[in-house]
Amino acid sequence: MQHSIGKVYLVGAGPGDPGLFTLKGKTLLEHADVVVYDALVSPQILAMVNPQAERINAGKRRGRHSLQQTDTTQLLIDKAHHHAVVVRLKGGDPFVFGRGGEEMQDLVNAGIAVEVVPGITSGIAAPAYAGIPLTHRAYSSSVTFVTGHESAGKYRPEVNWGAIAQGSETIVVYMGVHNLPYIVQQLQQGGLAAETPIALVRWGTCPQQQELLGTLSTIAQQVADTEFEAPAIAVIGNVVNLHRILAQCRPAI
Ligand SMILES: C[S@@+](CC[C@H](N)C(=O)[O-])C[C@H]1O[C@@H](n2cnc3c(N)ncnc32)[C@H](O)[C@@H]1O
Repeated sequence: MQHSIGKVYLVGAGPGDPGLFTLKGKTLLEHADVVVYDALVSPQILAMVNPQAERINAGKRRGRHSLQQTDTTQLLIDKAHHHAVVVRLKGGDPFVFGRGGEEMQDLVNAGIAVEVVPGITSGIAAPAYAGIPLTHRAYSSSVTFVTGHESAGKYRPEVNWGAIAQGSETIVVYMGVHNLPYIVQQLQQGGLAAETPIALVRWGTCPQQQELLGTLSTIAQQVADTEFEAPAIAVIGNVVNLHRILAQCRPAI
């Protein structure tokens, strides 16, 4: 097996607000030879990249792929054979619905040195900036993070929405806007009341953050009426009611 001269760092860029980026991530960007970044990485964080570094946009948004996953992995392998510090910069946390685990496996299999630098995931940060704590002693002792985007090839195991409805007091859905009518219907079939509160937080922690509050029975129509779009996090459960009181303390972005 060929060994790399460099190392790939899988770095989480956090949810958008550059103030939430880690010191370790910033230091790596300042010393990077190559940075391969995703679509949801904020411009202020890209501004931290070493001006001499090569920058490659591997960004993908729903239906718009800049680079195929296998191309991205091959690119990282090639760059690590020629450069000391290769940063793979991903939105949020690389290991939370970010394919970081798969990329790391492929790099390890190719004999490339690799390390992960966690980031703050949008599923925690976006609700927080909307005044929604995911747990609260009076309302919720459990949280589930789940993807709302089940790929057509069933690459991921199918989500058991009924079990999630029964098993968790707070549910945080990533990539759920597109499938929202199906998700809210499945959760109600699984036993959640139609009046269960839900919040959608779009572009959480970014200057353009937007929130939409409703219930499981109303939210799909509200999304259609307001043309609310991804990227957004959905939070479901009684903690959402705290938004009314706590949103006034939201951080300035
Ligand atoms: C492919 S997943 C990547 C998640 C990322 N690894 C993380 O930890 O946040 C992309 C989804 O994350 C969510 N997302 C990412 N950034 C967001 C933000 N600033 N506000 C709200 N949702 C966001 C959306 O649900 C989006 O469709």
